[in-house]
Amino acid sequence: MAVEQRPGIDLPGEERNLTLLRERALAAMERAYAPYSKFRVGAALLASDGSISEGCNVENAASPSGLCAERAAVAAAVARGNRSFDIVLIATEAEEPTPPCGVCRQVLHEFSPHMLVIAATRDGREARWTLDELLPKAFTAQSLDRR
Ligand code: THU
Repeated sequence: MAVEQRPGIDLPGEERNLTLLRERALAAMERAYAPYSKFRVGAALLASDGSISEGCNVENAASPSGLCAERAAVAAAVARGNRSFDIVLIATEAEEPTPPCGVCRQVLHEFSPHMLVIAATRDGREARWTLDELLPKAFTAQSLDRR
């Protein structure tokens, strides 16, 4: 497997967790509803209690009503009581690993700004970042106090 690992980004998950996250994200990707873009995405979130929640993108004929996989995974995790995450693994059918969109970065940041973000392709290519590397200087709850 090709893994793009850079110095300074440690692996918080055991290999077993990563294998499960890959499986869950890829399975969610297969269930994605993406008839318009044909770009299927699955995301699996590892919560600090060890549980995994997944989501997929759900598109809509009225395109702004569509939902990204990462935010669907966050909603599923929060609904089961998780608000702290170690890893999100994002699977797509793209040739190269794709990082999360800006809105999803912001939503993930609300809960776990230092989490590890892994993007994976179906044939095993991976890229890794920390979320604060992808979204430096985020708008946070503290930003609301600066009035
Ligand atoms: N998409 C995601 O699910 N996550 C992202 O981070 C980027 C984009 C979805 C939205 C849309 O259904 C399709 O990919 C093409 O943009």
